[in-house]
Amino acid sequence: MDTLVVDHPLVAHKLTTLRDTHTDSPTFRKLTDELVTLLAYEATRDVRVAEVTVQTPLVPATGFQLTRPRPLVVPILRAGLGMLDGMTRMLPTAEIGFLGMARDEQTLQPATYADRLPQDLSGRQCYVLDPMLATGGTLAAALTLLVERGADHITAICLLAAPEGVSSVEEKLARSLGEEHTATLRVVTAAMDERLDENGFIVPGLGDAGDRLYG
Ligand code: PRP
Repeated sequence: MDTLVVDHPLVAHKLTTLRDTHTDSPTFRKLTDELVTLLAYEATRDVRVAEVTVQTPLVPATGFQLTRPRPLVVPILRAGLGMLDGMTRMLPTAEIGFLGMARDEQTLQPATYADRLPQDLSGRQCYVLDPMLATGGTLAAALTLLVERGADHITAICLLAAPEGVSSVEEKLARSLGEEHTATLRVVTAAMDERLDENGFIVPGLGDAGDRLYG
């Protein structure tokens, strides 16, 4: 699984304000939206396009258009919902599927409480939205589900990731999917933080993204 940390001063600026405990919810929501749009620019670098010809007012011109089937954007509820508008601003024609997952605060294991995704994702390109990649349990479960339904190119967009979480996603996927699958899996994040604490929170992190967006 490739991991890209987007190195850009505007990303760093917005993320620093998100981390600040004094940033209120309206500002947090607005900055999340803006940050996702910046991350989406990098995350969609290999979105599938096909060559087309259009007629300019002067001459025919060769260019590119997004191909079908349309990309599928999957926000992981609850906190991933705060990233949806920022993503669809860049990909307005994408289909949107919802996955509701919550991490048990004691065991840190994810449970899926909503699955509003197409059953057949054969050959589909997907973009998963989840602000935090902490222990990696949630993302590993989401990626497993999408690959098992046939998705062959999945990019997860996260605001923050923990190194332990990225390693854990790779281990969990090796167990759940084996070596057989051929899907391309990527993570695009604004920062790779230092570590996880004993409660499974990213340090230094930004706290609980769901609570800061909607609490
Ligand atoms: C948070 C976060 C991720 C998950 C990350 O969601 O938004 O989905 O935890 O943790 P993991 O990498 O250790 O699995 P949470 O379960 O708190 O639900 P919420 O989005 O409804 O707040």
